[in-house]
Amino acid sequence: MKPRILSGVQPTGNLHIGNYLGALKNWAKLQYDYESIFCIVDLHAITVYQDPAELRRKIDQTAALFIACGIDPKQSSVVVQSMVPGHAELAWLLTCVTPVGWLERMTQYKDKAAKQESVGTGLLCYPVLMAADILIYQANCVPVGDDQSQHLELTRDIAQRFNAAYGETFVMPETRLPTVGARVMGLDEPEKKMSKSAEGPNHSIGLLDPPSLIKKKIMRATTDSNPAVDFETMGPGVANLITIFQAFSGWDDASVKSHFSGLRYGDLKKNVVEAVVAGLEPIQHKYAEIVADPAYLRGVLRESAERVMPFANATVNLVKSRLGIYTAA
Ligand code: TRP
Repeated sequence: MKPRILSGVQPTGNLHIGNYLGALKNWAKLQYDYESIFCIVDLHAITVYQDPAELRRKIDQTAALFIACGIDPKQSSVVVQSMVPGHAELAWLLTCVTPVGWLERMTQYKDKAAKQESVGTGLLCYPVLMAADILIYQANCVPVGDDQSQHLELTRDIAQRFNAAYGETFVMPETRLPTVGARVMGLDEPEKKMSKSAEGPNHSIGLLDPPSLIKKKIMRATTDSNPAVDFETMGPGVANLITIFQAFSGWDDASVKSHFSGLRYGDLKKNVVEAVVAGLEPIQHKYAEIVADPAYLRGVLRESAERVMPFANATVNLVKSRLGIYTAA
């Protein structure tokens, strides 16, 4: 049996080239070596207020983009978290073995809570729901960015605590940080990882941005005070543009170095625009096909949910029986 991987993305903000190069593109490769589940975690999204109509649109858009980026729904399950009730149910059961201090210590919680006047309980319990997403499928491996490492450690702590108190129940999931794939930084602030929630109009390149917008954003990207590309002294903005070029073009280091050394930034940027536009073209084309046929996407989401539900239910029932409570009839 193939090992199982699971990962998740919130259906908020705009999926961008950083999400593609750092995550989705790798998932599309991994899906052939693993039994794969990719979740659209809408129950996580509602830990802060979301406009309902907009959220629904974003759930479908995220699912369509997963597929447009190469996730094959015949090979992998594309699961909307809210369509599989076991996620929320297991989260409650796990909440009951999770000390509140563990949750208050999470850095993402502390950052988010600091920005809110009143902090919802859901925000505090967010990592328990994430643990449930992973443990409900007994996932062996979870590919995530390093910003999620702490949540993964917590997932293992919760699983261990449950196993110790009630008997071996959960498989210990491993974190899989990206080894290949690019870490893409914000175009306007190249010291920070490209983020879905950043505000700046030129921060990220959305997977659905039209070529004219891609061009505008890249031409405005932060560089440095050198006049042209110098691999010895270049700042993070120029390095980021070259990373993006290389990831989309597939050129090797030697070709990139000889082509770009001494090139003026205007020309560098034109090259990056071309590579990004060409790289996103097939994704945007596929996306357009998917949204032209809403019944197809609904079918994929229903089939995926039906495929994983028996397994999710089995885990929930096992956990409930370990706890001594009734399982669903
Ligand atoms: N918290 C993750 C993020 O913001 C999203 C997520 C939810 C997730 N459940 C998951 C990631 C399970 C991996 C596995 O990126």
